[in-house]
Amino acid sequence: MIVLIVNKQRIELEAPDDMPLLWVLRDLRGLIGTKYGCGKGLCGSCTVLLDGKAVHSCILPVGSIGKKEITTIEGIGDDLVAQKLLAAWKETEPTQCGYCQPGQIMTALALLKNTNKPSKNEIVQVMTGHICRCGTYQRIYKAIQIAADIIEDE
Ligand code: FES
Ligand code: FES
Repeated sequence: MIVLIVNKQRIELEAPDDMPLLWVLRDLRGLIGTKYGCGKGLCGSCTVLLDGKAVHSCILPVGSIGKKEITTIEGIGDDLVAQKLLAAWKETEPTQCGYCQPGQIMTALALLKNTNKPSKNEIVQVMTGHICRCGTYQRIYKAIQIAADIIEDE
């Protein structure tokens, strides 16, 4: 029996310790907003937050998580920083096919929560691990910058 905290809810499930968190979320919990891309920690599409830090769930064994809090794209709706980020996302419209977007949003959210007014260079550096086959990078960077400016001004 494994106990996890996912999106502020305590859940119990049966899974082998070495099962990647991504499969637990998608196949055992139905949280399919987190996407499978490469399965090797190289594309960022499977990104979730672990105690507020962006991690690749495709290479994270569920047995290694312990009491750390997992947040997926489905769990950010009530977060005030996330609301600002999503509003900025809507403004710059980076979503094309959408496949990479949940992972990109989770990393951007971690950046905004952990860095006071990130510079353009910091944004680009942090987001570099994300691959978007639709090439929406500039619109994503702009959305993060807009959200950072709004947060700074408040
Ligand atoms: S699916 Fe996890 S980094 Fe690509
Ligand atoms: S929007 Fe299509 S992969 Fe990024």
